[in-house]
Amino acid sequence: MISRMIVLGAGGDLAARLLLPALAGLRAHGRLPDDLAIVGVDRAAMDDATFRAHVRTAVGVHGDAAARSAAEALAGSCTYRRGDATDPDALRAALADGEGPAVVYLALPPPVFAPAIRAAAEAGLPEGSRMVVEKPFGEDLASAQALNALLRDVLPEDAIHRVDHFLGKQTVQNLLGLRFANRLFEPIWNREHIERVDVVWDETLALEGRAGYYDRAGALRDMIQNHLLQVLTLVAMEPPPTLHERDLRDRKVDLLRSIRTPDDVAAQTVRARYTAGDAVGGPVPDYASEEGVDPARGTETFAAVTLWVDTWRWSGVPFTLRSGKALGALRQEVAIRFRPVPHLAFGQGQHPEPNVLLLGLAPDRLELSVTVNGPGEPFTVEEVTLAAHLAPQDVSAYGRVILDVLAGDPTLSIRGDEAEECWRIVGPILDAWRTGVPGLRDYTAGSDGPVSPGWPPPAR
Ligand code: BG6
Repeated sequence: MISRMIVLGAGGDLAARLLLPALAGLRAHGRLPDDLAIVGVDRAAMDDATFRAHVRTAVGVHGDAAARSAAEALAGSCTYRRGDATDPDALRAALADGEGPAVVYLALPPPVFAPAIRAAAEAGLPEGSRMVVEKPFGEDLASAQALNALLRDVLPEDAIHRVDHFLGKQTVQNLLGLRFANRLFEPIWNREHIERVDVVWDETLALEGRAGYYDRAGALRDMIQNHLLQVLTLVAMEPPPTLHERDLRDRKVDLLRSIRTPDDVAAQTVRARYTAGDAVGGPVPDYASEEGVDPARGTETFAAVTLWVDTWRWSGVPFTLRSGKALGALRQEVAIRFRPVPHLAFGQGQHPEPNVLLLGLAPDRLELSVTVNGPGEPFTVEEVTLAAHLAPQDVSAYGRVILDVLAGDPTLSIRGDEAEECWRIVGPILDAWRTGVPGLRDYTAGSDGPVSPGWPPPAR
């Protein structure tokens, strides 16, 4: 494993909320190499001691109990270099603190990605180094292509980790086991048997003080362009011959390429933002009046998109991806709804629900609804649920992704062409939304959201 990580933007929000707690969690579980040195780089005036105190605080505030137990140990492996991530000399100085290949982690706001990558190209990275780029990777197809072109000047593709922590979630990875290690599902995993697929990530949390980032992103860019499309690829891709990164990522890209460019955005999408209401954690103000929000941007806090996969396997099956903030209930799952049975031998008035396979993304769970005979009434039917108990994930999803970066395994990283395909799909939606099609709806914070029972549109 590689023995040093240079974190550009080490004093920022992303490092404090996600990266440092994940590193501490890995340290607590004994999964981090003992000799891993972490060099923080940022513009703030800090020395090693103040940066270590910052690390302890960040892990204390944002880490779980395991991470907090390792805050001190993690801080002990950290040093700090004051510098600007867009200045090649800052990276040169950080690299000069050690020897050999480094992981260069861009924990930076998206507008700084391009200048920081240019600076890395100018500074040059030691042979065997890797670079980690956070989401959002660009803000449309053209900017993602431009970032990819810049990255190609720094490192080879398999040393570039465009990370998406959803791919480190246990149930997302379980899609591979479920589909490709069972006889049961794959033969019916197609349009003949599956009526529709919903990938849902409904959150009860509202903005959490993230207006600076979120108001420029919105639900479509924040969740659907990356996380939920990634989940969709694993649900729908063709079986890979092996789980080697090339086999897996080739299949994912094939699937993305077969998603039809949205051509009827008014019918295929819903966008909405929350108004004041009683959410799960207490009263929430109008999104438009939250601090740091520019209401004129019309940023959506809820997005739903129905996509069509133009392949023999999936033709006509709607795949709906939806995500929203400040909703009344947590619902985070993949729901695979099967078609009704072709003929029911039971009497009049029996309308069994079709089978549904649920993969709970949070909490991790696996459930299959099946129809059985009613108790005492053998010629009636009723629904029961087969539920599997899944052991909790030992390291966090984010930690899992970092482990792969340290091991130099790009399987769970987004390949450059994959990121571009995701923008190819989402771009026309953003274009139409900019022209007000469809209109921005409202939903009350704490409610079920804006989607009517008749949505998504029927298969075509
Ligand atoms: C992040 C989004 O990538 O994923 C957040 O920016 C979202 O808005 C989060 O809440 C959800 O993932 P998790 O695993 O942190 O619940």
